Amino acid sequence: EVWNPNGKYRVVSTKSMPGTRWINLLVQQDCRVEICTEKKTILSVEDIIALIGTKCDGVIGQLTEDWGETLFSALSKAGGKAFSNMAVGYNNVDVEAATKYGVAVGNTPGVLTETTAELAASLSLAASRRIVEADGFMRAGLYDGWLPHLFVGNLLKGQTVGVIGAGRIGSAYARMMIEGFKMNLIYFDLYQATRLEKFVTAYGQFLKASGEEPVTWRRASSMDEVLQQADVISLHPILDKTTYHLINKERLSKMKKEAILINCSRGPVVDEEALVEHLKQNPMFRVGLDVFEDEPYMKPGLADMKNAIVVPHIASASKWTREGMATLAALNVLVCIFYTHITHFVC
Ligand code: DGY
Repeated sequence: EVWNPNGKYRVVSTKSMPGTRWINLLVQQDCRVEICTEKKTILSVEDIIALIGTKCDGVIGQLTEDWGETLFSALSKAGGKAFSNMAVGYNNVDVEAATKYGVAVGNTPGVLTETTAELAASLSLAASRRIVEADGFMRAGLYDGWLPHLFVGNLLKGQTVGVIGAGRIGSAYARMMIEGFKMNLIYFDLYQATRLEKFVTAYGQFLKASGEEPVTWRRASSMDEVLQQADVISLHPILDKTTYHLINKERLSKMKKEAILINCSRGPVVDEEALVEHLKQNPMFRVGLDVFEDEPYMKPGLADMKNAIVVPHIASASKWTREGMATLAALNVLVCIFYTHITHFVC
């Protein structure tokens, strides 16, 4: 699909993206926009090299693509100045290789903060109240009347929510769980979470002034402290060498037997094989997963676990957010094309 065929700058998008604002922005700035219509979901490096061709000023790509040395070399040979990842996470991008070939890299933070936090909150609620299991029970025609023990779950109010990685998304999630469900907070981050701390302090004062029950909050001095003390734990770190298999067999064993673990960050942050084993051994332990170690696959056994809720990497999938991500991705390309001194990173 081609927009503005005579445009001066050739910008390729490896996927069709929601809305038209992003296309209009590029066209207004004299870009020829080419959108790949290939049906297969995940494009190979070879597919993308073919899309880049011999002249390409910038590419908007996806988190499913492997943007390393080979692609940046091809893009640079084609005169490319920009690669824009339509995602906040950029673990699929070798920024060092991009820099080496003079290609600037962009990502799309901000517009997906609340949307992603909302999915983490939804999974937390669904896991604590066993909503997916109960839905399956109804559809299977098994409901034959109200019972005192039927699908008894946990009340979030008064329980402790644990946040690992209190950046933008982790903090938004924490705010939702504290304010929405009156949970206490324990969090761990290598950096100071100033905005989150300001929020919890102000919220504590508000609760006091209005005579409501207080909530407690605390920065943990180690991740293990969060794992041991929280009832619901949500993971929000970036994926890099230091966070690969951050949650492994040993760390799973430190969590409460009835804890809930939520992952809307990146799959490899959790050792999925160890997780399946843990779910088998601990039927009261529950997980809500949006991401998987080897997407689009799940480790054997995971799909059979009643104590797991699995959704296909949809944390940022609201219309407003996806259109915002596409717009930001286009803007990043334009910034890199027009400000050619940018050679490293824009967001
Ligand atoms: C991101 O932007 O990194 C998300 O995973 C996409 O939903």
